[in-house]
Amino acid sequence: MLTPISYRDGAVELIDQTRLPHDVVTLTIADYRELADAIRTMKIRGAPAIGIAVAYGVVLGIQEVEDEAELDGRFEEIVETLRRTRPTAVNLFWALERMTGVFYAHRKADLPILKKELLEEAKGIHDEDIEANQRIGRYGAELLPDGATVLTHCNAGALATGGYGTALGVVRAAWEAGKLAKVVVDETRPRLQGARLTAWELKQDGIPFELITDSAAGSFMAKGEVDAVTVGADRIAANGDTANKVGTYSLAVLAHHHGIPFYIAAPVSTIDGSIADGARIPIEQRDHEEVTQIQGAQIAPTGIHVRNPAFDVTPADLITAIITEKGVLRPPYIEAIHDVLHC
Ligand code: MRU
Repeated sequence: MLTPISYRDGAVELIDQTRLPHDVVTLTIADYRELADAIRTMKIRGAPAIGIAVAYGVVLGIQEVEDEAELDGRFEEIVETLRRTRPTAVNLFWALERMTGVFYAHRKADLPILKKELLEEAKGIHDEDIEANQRIGRYGAELLPDGATVLTHCNAGALATGGYGTALGVVRAAWEAGKLAKVVVDETRPRLQGARLTAWELKQDGIPFELITDSAAGSFMAKGEVDAVTVGADRIAANGDTANKVGTYSLAVLAHHHGIPFYIAAPVSTIDGSIADGARIPIEQRDHEEVTQIQGAQIAPTGIHVRNPAFDVTPADLITAIITEKGVLRPPYIEAIHDVLHC
């Protein structure tokens, strides 16, 4: 199974997603600061994959510590460096919280034991995510009609997770069950995760798809060529409002207008029960060059005003269901989310 990240012999190995689809380059990273930089520059990206990456980042950081007297200070520094990489995907903060829990639970143990426990936890976060995705895939595939055409945005595939994918997990499971006709893939400006990553993954798996520009989605819906929209999530608030790649909200409005089911596929680790609604989700603002340039080539005049939010928030009332590994959540989401977080 394709996995964007793994840990071997004291180092993290990851596929550099900025080089796809042309070059499949595996980076070997033994320094947590370098790993933090890889997250910031989106060599690894996608909410669950970022969570797994920071968990391994803590392992790399603590590996460097040899003097117990330095342990607490170094731990805080490592967590702070990893925390500051990207603000929207809650999986990052969730994974750091899990690693922090293990750190303090074994803080008084011998250093080799502490290091081993942290590695076990990071591997556990990784394995659990793959299993969650496979369950999400099965639940999601059941929701689709036979011969379905599914539209997706960004990349919520194996590359964005521990493996298998969330929204693409649903696609993969539907394909395996013989229920899928094809996928419609939004190119996903400005970073082109759809064109570069989702198209690459689907091609590798031999799953039929068509790549479209983001602005063409409405016209295909109007022609009756889309049976369902399935996307991932970066953070789901307690009321079901969902932050995902910018452009997701427009798709949800279009799907609502055309009576097409709009599904969010995400593990429970993407739910932030501490945030009441989507207005409180921090939205990452990225470099203007992502909009004014394509792969380094300037496409807009220089010296102009640009805004580049990386995510938008889809209100809960536009979401038909949230597919998690613990089952399919339906409105009213406040109750469904409360139950899934507390059972
Ligand atoms: O900026 P990115 O590429 O990290 O954004 C990724 C997305 O928006 C994904 O849809 C989301 O993280 C879900 S990944 C399973």
